Amino acid sequence: MLNLVLSEFYFKEKIAGHQNLKSHFLPLALNHCKTAPTNWNCNVLTSRGTESIDFAPFLNQFKSVVSSMCDAIGTNGPVELRIESMWLNLYNENTWQETHNHSTHHNNISFVYFINHDAAKDGEFFFLNERSQHYSASGLHDVFRLAESLNINELCPIKISEGDVILFPSHMRHGVTVQRHNTNRCTLAGNLLIIPQRNPAATAP
Ligand SMILES: [Fe+2]
Repeated sequence: MLNLVLSEFYFKEKIAGHQNLKSHFLPLALNHCKTAPTNWNCNVLTSRGTESIDFAPFLNQFKSVVSSMCDAIGTNGPVELRIESMWLNLYNENTWQETHNHSTHHNNISFVYFINHDAAKDGEFFFLNERSQHYSASGLHDVFRLAESLNINELCPIKISEGDVILFPSHMRHGVTVQRHNTNRCTLAGNLLIIPQRNPAATAP
C-alpha cells in the first residue's frame, strides 16, 4: 500500500459580501498601490506600508472564515486571533511575485483574499513544494510519475475564483506567476497570529 506523509494544508472559503468588499477595496488598491519594497524582489504594486486604508469591512467578514478553518481542522480549545498586518496588491501586465514566505515571530497563519480575479487571464497563485527539489536532485522525478500520481511537484498552483479567501501556515513558500493582461488582478493579503485563548482564572494568583 502506498502512503503519503508530511502533509501541508491550506484552507479556502468564499467570503460573504464579496461584491461590496470589491467596491470598497478595488478603488483603494488603484489609488494606494505603489512600487514594491526592494527586498520583495518582484514588481507587483502594493499598499504595504500605507497606514490609511480602512480594512474594517474585510475584518467583519473574515472572522467567520477563520472560524470555519478552525472548525474544519479542530482546535484544542478556544482560540485568540490577532491580526498582525494587512495590505493590498495590484497586478497588471508583466508583474509577478517571487516565491517567499511570511514567517516572523509575530504571526503563524497568512491569508490572501482574491478581490478581483479572472481565472482565464490572471497570474496563478502557487505554493512551492520545497521537498520536490530533493526528488529532483536524487533523480527520483526521472524514475517515477511523482507529479501525476502523488502530486509531488515543485510548483503547486491552486484553483482560485474571485471572492475566495485562502489561509495557510506562514512558513509555506508561495508566489504568483507572471500576469499577462491589464486586468487589475487585486488581492488583500495579511498575517495573523492564532494562539490558545488565555484563561484568566487559570493564571490568577
Ligand atoms: Fe505572500
